[in-house]
Amino acid sequence: MATSSSHLASFLSFVFTILFTFNIAKAQSNVTRGSSLRPTGATTSWLSPSGLYAFGFYPQTGGYAVGIYIAGIAERTVVWTAKRDTLPLSNDSTLRFTTDGRLVVDQPQGQQISISDTGGIGAAVASMKDSGNFVLYDSDQRTILWQSFDHPTDTLLVGQRLVAGQALFSCVSVADYSIGIFKLSMQIDGHLLTFPNLGFPDVTATQYWWSNTPDTGPNVALNLDSDGFLYLLQNSTFYIKNLTQGGYRREDAIYRLKIDVDGILRLYFRDLNNTGQNDSVIWVSSTDKCVGRGLCGVNGYCYVMNDAATCRCLPGFDFVKPGSWSSGCKRYYTAETCKIPDGDKGNFSQMTRLPNNTYWEDAAYALPKASNQEECSLACTNDCKCEAALFTGQSCRLQKLPLLYVQVRDSESNVGLIKVYVASVNNGSNPTNYPSDQVRKVRQVKFLVIAVSLASVAVLVLLLSGVIMWRSHVWAYKKISEHVNVQLFEDVGLRGFSYAELEKITDGFKVELGRGSFGIVYKGIIESPMKMVAVKKLKKELAQEGEREFQTEMKVIGRTYHRNLTRLLGYCCDGPERLLVLEYMTRGSLADVLFHYKESKPCWTERIRIALDIAHGIFYLHEECETPIIHCDIKPQNILMDEYGCAKISDFGLAKLLEHDQTKTSTLIRGTRGYVAPEWHKKLPITVKVDVYSFGIVLFEILCCRRKFDNSLPSDEAILEEWVYECYETDELFKLVNDADVDRRTLERMIKIGLWCTQEDPSLRPSMKKVVLMLEGTVKIPIPPNPTSFLSVV
Ligand SMILES: *[C@@H]1O[C@H](CO)[C@@H](O)[C@H](O)[C@H]1NC(C)=O
Ligand SMILES: *[C@@H]1O[C@H](CO)[C@@H](O)[C@H](O)[C@H]1NC(C)=O
Ligand SMILES: *[C@@H]1O[C@H](CO)[C@@H](O)[C@H](O)[C@H]1NC(C)=O
Ligand SMILES: *[C@@H]1O[C@H](CO)[C@@H](O)[C@H](O)[C@H]1NC(C)=O
Ligand SMILES: *[C@@H]1O[C@H](CO)[C@@H](O)[C@H](O)[C@H]1NC(C)=O
Ligand SMILES: *[C@@H]1O[C@H](CO)[C@@H](O)[C@H](O)[C@H]1NC(C)=O
Ligand SMILES: *[C@@H]1O[C@H](CO)[C@@H](O)[C@H](O)[C@H]1NC(C)=O
Ligand SMILES: *[C@@H]1O[C@H](CO)[C@@H](O)[C@H](O)[C@H]1NC(C)=O
Ligand SMILES: *[C@@H]1O[C@H](CO)[C@@H](O)[C@H](O)[C@H]1NC(C)=O
Repeated sequence: MATSSSHLASFLSFVFTILFTFNIAKAQSNVTRGSSLRPTGATTSWLSPSGLYAFGFYPQTGGYAVGIYIAGIAERTVVWTAKRDTLPLSNDSTLRFTTDGRLVVDQPQGQQISISDTGGIGAAVASMKDSGNFVLYDSDQRTILWQSFDHPTDTLLVGQRLVAGQALFSCVSVADYSIGIFKLSMQIDGHLLTFPNLGFPDVTATQYWWSNTPDTGPNVALNLDSDGFLYLLQNSTFYIKNLTQGGYRREDAIYRLKIDVDGILRLYFRDLNNTGQNDSVIWVSSTDKCVGRGLCGVNGYCYVMNDAATCRCLPGFDFVKPGSWSSGCKRYYTAETCKIPDGDKGNFSQMTRLPNNTYWEDAAYALPKASNQEECSLACTNDCKCEAALFTGQSCRLQKLPLLYVQVRDSESNVGLIKVYVASVNNGSNPTNYPSDQVRKVRQVKFLVIAVSLASVAVLVLLLSGVIMWRSHVWAYKKISEHVNVQLFEDVGLRGFSYAELEKITDGFKVELGRGSFGIVYKGIIESPMKMVAVKKLKKELAQEGEREFQTEMKVIGRTYHRNLTRLLGYCCDGPERLLVLEYMTRGSLADVLFHYKESKPCWTERIRIALDIAHGIFYLHEECETPIIHCDIKPQNILMDEYGCAKISDFGLAKLLEHDQTKTSTLIRGTRGYVAPEWHKKLPITVKVDVYSFGIVLFEILCCRRKFDNSLPSDEAILEEWVYECYETDELFKLVNDADVDRRTLERMIKIGLWCTQEDPSLRPSMKKVVLMLEGTVKIPIPPNPTSFLSVV
């Protein structure tokens, strides 16, 4: 480090001779309080002593950004950007080093953006260093209060370290410096990985480059030396892995490691002696330009053309946002028309073969038997849920949209098939020919005509049936009571199954998925549409209800439709047997996700999102359903995760089967120990607030990634909600969560919400609507009282 800065200083004079294309003020090593910069005009930046680096404004798509760039070379090269999650700055913003020592951007609209967090201490002096580090010093002129090197964005400079728990995020594009879709993560366990940053959890399956140093222990950091040596070092002493050998030229050279817009890591070298020379790449994480997973978004795929990665949409798809590949592709026809036969011209949908060796993230929902490509193709054509199929030679994997991480890889010998909806113009003679734009337009028009005529027919039918129904009012009522079953399916799209059918679907109740408070769940596959399902065989005590009541209940449940609730697909009410057919959730329960696999523990933002998902689901049950539903048993085991990491509540509505009037005082405690609200024990009326209490406990578990009771811990930590309150009171919340990526203010907010939810007095607990608003951060959260302060005995 010391050597590198002396080298940098040595060409101080030399840099000044370089042709500058920007308006740069005289080099000014230290910035004093009261200084300011504007995006346009004479002074847009503060320079380092040699003039090599500058801190200030630069243009980006839609306005300006504030950050650090290399000023001493012809083209602006940004190495650090402040507040990448805020909107581009307008041309009348001001960057100020205030008289009380804060670094802020003032915007005319009134919001002030704070660039640096110095922990409330005003900095005495700011300094742009020749190393590319921007530093704020305390009044002793030595103590560093804040430095840009501690907050890397997409670039690592010589002397800067990416320490455990930190990450680099790529930019959106070369001209837009906000956070893009790739992430380089220096993990606590010593592993260095690149992932797509698309809001899905950092599961190992999505990494596309890694250093192969897992479990090498704590305190591993990525380092870059002044001779281009890039390596992982533990405890600042032990070499874990050398990514480059180093030993490159030190003099008049800049090295920087960057996670580029395409997700590839590149170590750039810049010859400062030779102004005509551009950056050269001396190390690259992958030579495959299409390696970055998600580069082409959902339903798109990547191929290399003229030595550059290019995206293309699957046949029958179009870019969502032309020019932004990562936004992915969408169909030009919707799948809702799947069933409509195409009159005399043949079938409406057909399967098109994708380029050889296509592969995508496997999330098959069904695996029908198929011995060849044609049979697999047919299985998908005949199933309206199916959008694509992958025939691997051994299996036929049916898939819904979106298709994630579509790739064309040499190592695969799969046949990828995608369903293409052919409008009337297609004579099906040449299915592999992707429709040209012109043909597509013609089709779209024709399609519109079909759609409009279908819609008018539908309206007519509706009107007609309305008249008939009105006329035969009395008759209809009678009918319903006689044929509850039939009516039900038509009403809510539920399907009735016989016990024998379900026996077949589950292959004789062979594969057990889990056991819940209401019964045992088995895996099954239903045909037409082919689909994996979960079949829940209810306990006998639940089956005591009469057939009518059971069906009424199913009707209520079947009407609930929300993205955070599992969907009831059908049921069986056959003699004494009561079974439910539910959506199959590929990722198991929240309990699995939180407690079982330490490595795939969801990251902080993911956890916040899961909490919000659950809150939305409960809110819907309480306030947006026709009849409010109290769940009575909210716990991680009853929250299931779908393939995209979306949390869905299951088992709702079943509590009601046990006892009809839920608002009555109950003698029989339902729900699960530890999650049930105190009023169950106190024989108080049971209201929606029991779910709010359970949600509070689950929220604590999600935030802390531990069970609500863990007797392997010291006694004061064993009961989670008590431990949480203790930490909250002593202002030591950091003891609860030891992840590095936790945002402390969010943590405090979440804990406060949890404490409100777990108040002993049900009337103090907020409604689920309020909880959602608090989680979303739209309302202020008052200081919660001690949850157990409510000591009244009833
Ligand atoms: C700022 O931008 C607006 C339009 O966005 C333009 O009208 C105005 O002249 C600009 N001001 C300066 C000082 O460049
Ligand atoms: C700039 O500030 C640093 C740290 O306070 C100090 O060591 C250095 O002497 C200052 N340089 C100048 C030229 O004032
Ligand atoms: C590095 O330091 C940590 C704690 O600071 C220690 O647990 C670990 O054993 C050290 N690693 C090596 C290889 O000495
Ligand atoms: C990595 O580099 C260091 C420093 O040059 C060297 O001591 C070490 O042996 C290297 N390790 C490997 C595996 O090459
Ligand atoms: C850079 O240029 C200077 C002056 O022209 C020269 O003395 C020096 O050797 C050059 N450095 C390198 C690494 O070529
Ligand atoms: C450097 O890059 C610019 C723009 O990308 C290009 O026009 C120029 O030819 C390049 N120069 C060299 C020496 O490659
Ligand atoms: C339509 O699909 C059926 C099977 O679903 C197939 O046998 C038939 O050949 C198809 N017809 C055309 C014209 O593609
Ligand atoms: C794809 O694979 C099939 C069979 O393996 C082969 O006949 C065909 O020529 C291949 N197509 C291309 C474009 O390579
Ligand atoms: C049917 O396909 C042929 C060639 O593939 C094409 O010339 C003809 O226009 C198509 N028919 C319609 C109605 O588009």
